Amino acid sequence: MQTLHTIADFRRARGKVAGDLGLAPTMGFLHEGHLELVRRARAENDAVAVSIFVNPTQFGPAEDFKEYPRDLDRDLELLAKEGVALVFNPSPEEMYPPGHGTGIDTGPVSAPLEGSRRPGHFRGVATVVAKLFNIVQPNRAYFGQKDAQQVQVIKRMARDLDFPLEIVAVPTVREPDGLAMSSRNIYLDPRQRVAARCLYRGLTLAGERWAQGERDGGALRALVNETIEPEPLAAIDYVSVADVETLHELEGAAGPAALVSVAVRFGKVRLIDNVVLGGV
Ligand code: PAJ
Repeated sequence: MQTLHTIADFRRARGKVAGDLGLAPTMGFLHEGHLELVRRARAENDAVAVSIFVNPTQFGPAEDFKEYPRDLDRDLELLAKEGVALVFNPSPEEMYPPGHGTGIDTGPVSAPLEGSRRPGHFRGVATVVAKLFNIVQPNRAYFGQKDAQQVQVIKRMARDLDFPLEIVAVPTVREPDGLAMSSRNIYLDPRQRVAARCLYRGLTLAGERWAQGERDGGALRALVNETIEPEPLAAIDYVSVADVETLHELEGAAGPAALVSVAVRFGKVRLIDNVVLGGV
């Protein structure tokens, strides 16, 4: 496994890769969710590249860029065991040299949900992912369904801007009690960690109600709200039942599929999770 820190070095190493290359973009502090992207990429490509870059432009001024957890040595050990060929780990200055100002306007799919709570977030995500696509030149790129809106924003960008690659969404990896794996989970104190089960409990109940035939967006939203609200340590940011592709909120009867997503704060820690009901 080669670890490259500059764009020029990475391009040289990438040029020597034979066959299809899969890319899993990450911000590091890897867990089983990230490793699942790597495994899927390995199964579907001849070689795998992983980027580790805590991207400053996708964090708001009041967000946790500085405190975002980092452990490069441990990450590299994990990736070597997964048979990764190339790791790209640039510095912020390498990715954003002085004068950098061009960015991607991600359009309507980035407006609701995370986009409305985190202004500029998806511009930062799309811009760094576009740069990574240009630097790494992967045949396929792997993203977690855990960040459902991010998947839609990147799919839309790849289509709209003609990136010659396939975007693959990988199902969410969960802890045994259902909590979606996240680098931010380590900031939950023991009581908050137990309380955080309410996210998946709410999403699971919506799934059960859907299986019984419930299709009303408002009723499903109310059910998830009523499940999370009684938890005293949880502060709901949003509960959404939306169209899977456009992310427009479903007011009346849902179509064949719906994306149920939640953002909930436990003290300073903000967690997101989602499930897709129906559909493929
Ligand atoms: P990061 O939060 O490190 O996540 C990297 C990738 O891992 C994302 O595609 C994310 O959806 C996926 N992932 C995280 N937790 C997961 C889980 N429990 N199950 C499955 N997949 C999971 O997302 C980012 O970084 C950044 O925005 C990035 C795309 C790297 C751009 O900077």
